Amino acid sequence: MNVLSPEARAGRFALPGAHFAVATCYLVAAAAGLVWIAPQLAAGDFASPRVAGVTHLFTLGWLTTTIFGALYQLMPNAMAAPIRWPRVGWASLAVFAPGVGAFALGVARGAAVAEYLGICLVALGVALTVGNVAATLPRARRRDEMWAGIAIAITYLSAALVLGALLFHNLRTGDLAAARVRVLATHLHVAIVGWVLVMIVGVSHRLLPMFLIARGADTRWTRRALASLAAGVPILGVGFLTHRAPVAWVGAAVLDLGIAFFLYQASCFVRARVRKRIDIGMRYAGVGVSFLALAAALGAIVLWRRPLSMRLATTYVLLGLLGGIVMFVIGLFYKIVPMLAWTARYGGQAKPNVPTIAEMFSERVARAQLVLMTGAILAIAGAILSGSSIGARIGAAAFLVGVLLFGSQILRVALGRPSRRHEPDELAAPRPGRSARAVVTRV
Ligand code: HEM
Repeated sequence: MNVLSPEARAGRFALPGAHFAVATCYLVAAAAGLVWIAPQLAAGDFASPRVAGVTHLFTLGWLTTTIFGALYQLMPNAMAAPIRWPRVGWASLAVFAPGVGAFALGVARGAAVAEYLGICLVALGVALTVGNVAATLPRARRRDEMWAGIAIAITYLSAALVLGALLFHNLRTGDLAAARVRVLATHLHVAIVGWVLVMIVGVSHRLLPMFLIARGADTRWTRRALASLAAGVPILGVGFLTHRAPVAWVGAAVLDLGIAFFLYQASCFVRARVRKRIDIGMRYAGVGVSFLALAAALGAIVLWRRPLSMRLATTYVLLGLLGGIVMFVIGLFYKIVPMLAWTARYGGQAKPNVPTIAEMFSERVARAQLVLMTGAILAIAGAILSGSSIGARIGAAAFLVGVLLFGSQILRVALGRPSRRHEPDELAAPRPGRSARAVVTRV
């Protein structure tokens, strides 16, 4: 086995690692912002600039930056496709990271300079990354579901950018007039479903069976999920933009079918798992898909009640985005980041006095965080539906505490401060039924 020098190992993970570090900082900023906008959420005022600003700390700062980092890790390692222009990866982060902050702050405060600077840097960062990923995809050995998911998702990110720029122009000019809410509804479905959820469905096809150690699962449902989601988004968008309710209903039905296919695929992997115990990372993913199912059901009610339901629409976006997507991505983060840090730090070999990957963070803290964040999301949703500003603020504060716990875990992993250190003789005498190699594979 060719053992890389510590420098070479660290170098291999530097680009994804830098993205994950920036993303974690934005998650903390977004959670703090959630406390700030809680009264607007409780009032169902999702179109307020403050809400839009904080939303993009979550969607661009945490989700999009994390996905960019994961692509720079997965494409060379899981798809054997070396990144076409690694330097462009650094350049896009160098413009995208500050751009998101400037854009979010500018929109929230109505500060023109920050807004314009922000959207230009964000657009440049997105264009560089989409170009780099698109140039790397042809190098992949296999054209499988993960490959298709990435190709579809980056196309939708480009569309989300165009719709976002249009909405941004409207914030300054009001040109969209009554069409604003319809363009906004299209933008958020193109972005959240077309970009983020399609990406999650694609990479989950490879990651979930690996993380769950699943064997022989029925894997036909991912491609059905991808096809339905990829078709449902534009149909729903056309229905919104042309004000044709029947078309919007067809789009919503196809989209919900796609979510149902993904949930079924995930359940196939869970049922085919070799090991009974489900670890903490996968528990977050489980909570994420449960909130996704809830949001999918609520979506139909929002479509039916449409103009009368600002609070219902706000709850729908909150459950889908924070509950479904953010929690699922935190779960993947708990799987990928400790493994990267462990491999970079310990070179993938079990040695005396080396913690296992699972011991790179505290499982107890991760469990407390899961309960806190799940409870917080339900509390905020309840506060929005009942119009309770204080309830929304308490829920948002609990969510922030959960995110700070998460931040402390990621810091612990990055600094190599495992939750427990092995005594030399402990590995020498592997625990009953566990060889040293078993330690390494217990991801
Ligand atoms: C790629 C660059 C993007 C730009 C330039 C952009 C721009 C905007 C603007 C200007 C608004 C406010 C519209 C208004 O209040 O009228 C908005 C709203 C929104 N965007 Fe984006 N966006 C982008 C990416 C994304 C992504 C990637 C996501 C999700 C993954 C997203 C999710 C949302 C959501 C949920 C809202 C509604 C927030 C609210 O309630 O005000 N956006 N976007």
